[in-house]
Amino acid sequence: MPQASATTDRSEDPASEGRTRRRRPSLRQLAGRADYIWRQGNRLALYTLHSEAMRRMNAQLQKDLPETPKPVPDGPVPSQRRMLADIAALLAADLKAVEDGLYPAPRDGRMSVRELIATSRAFFRDVPEVARRRATGAHQEVFEDRDRFGDTLPRYYRQNFHFQSDGWLSEESARLYDFQVDVLFSGATAAMRRRALVPFAEILKRKDQRKLAYADLACGTGGLLAPALAAFPRLKGIGVDLSEPYLSVARERIDCRRASFVNAMAERLPFADNSLDVLSCVFLFHELPPKVRRQVIAEAARVLKPGGSFLFVDSLQSGDVSDYDGLLSLFPQLFHEPYYTSYLTEDLEGLFAKAGMTRSYFTPAFVSRVAAYTLG
Ligand SMILES: C[S@@+](CC[C@H](N)C(=O)[O-])C[C@H]1O[C@@H](n2cnc3c(N)ncnc32)[C@H](O)[C@@H]1O
Repeated sequence: MPQASATTDRSEDPASEGRTRRRRPSLRQLAGRADYIWRQGNRLALYTLHSEAMRRMNAQLQKDLPETPKPVPDGPVPSQRRMLADIAALLAADLKAVEDGLYPAPRDGRMSVRELIATSRAFFRDVPEVARRRATGAHQEVFEDRDRFGDTLPRYYRQNFHFQSDGWLSEESARLYDFQVDVLFSGATAAMRRRALVPFAEILKRKDQRKLAYADLACGTGGLLAPALAAFPRLKGIGVDLSEPYLSVARERIDCRRASFVNAMAERLPFADNSLDVLSCVFLFHELPPKVRRQVIAEAARVLKPGGSFLFVDSLQSGDVSDYDGLLSLFPQLFHEPYYTSYLTEDLEGLFAKAGMTRSYFTPAFVSRVAAYTLG
């Protein structure tokens, strides 16, 4: 795990595992480990290869595009070796949670060969478009194309975040999103999200899953909602997102008997006061203007019941893992991330505290921070 400089309330501590006497693993456990390592290893290889191929493709494309300033980190950047070690630590914590029975062995990486080839081809078809936008600074295509994308959604939302084609607003974008994020994070995205299932499992030790009112804010294509419902088989959930195409993909991927979906703004939730037990929110806050971040937290405090929990996963912030600070400063130079720099230094603890929520769990997880806040 990266060395956190912020307070780590209850992060996994691999060192403490070494101190407890280990039982010899059963054959079944060994088989489970081998399967996990095989699948996650394949993911790492697949997305790392895509990342390298994309880098080479971009180098070629760059020859015909306007030159852009070379990104300059404003602090230390971890070595490849360090990042691989942190991914390995993340996966070890993930596997441990599976073995501890907190959630079942993950199903990520089980794309059919046909789906994989189609997605990979679509990914490479899109690379020149992203390179063109990056080189020309074209990040307002979604805003400018009102015929295609309308003009009713909030202004801050109608942008080509990450220089991605169609922003959040087309089926193509929704189908490519998970693959693109995994290329960026070497296939570790799902494991980072799953860290939120650890505090979720703790909550469910005290509450009946069948009676728990749960919603995932900015659920996207179901990145956390799907594994949460797989982990906790009696739980039902509501996915909230502003993108109809992303919600459509989530509907396809998740059993609709256990999930419902609402097209709504996280800052104006269609839920009654004090009506939800758990809210989760993954990779949203860094995409929001500071004012909207505050509104989302206020809405969360309004709709959660007293004692309710807010499960948070998003990018590391400056100082969380100090030797990642330079890497974090590169993101908004490489991708259209208009609100990321303000996110890096946002006083999240202060904002949650102001809304009456206290942090009960925190752990860095590779390039993410995972936290749980309790209301009241
Ligand atoms: C980076 S993606 C994260 C998606 C998903 N949570 C995940 O883990 O992959 C950001 C998502 O936030 C949604 N979004 C952005 N601003 C929003 C808002 N104000 N209200 C609801 N959804 C929003 C986008 O449509 C997109 O699906």
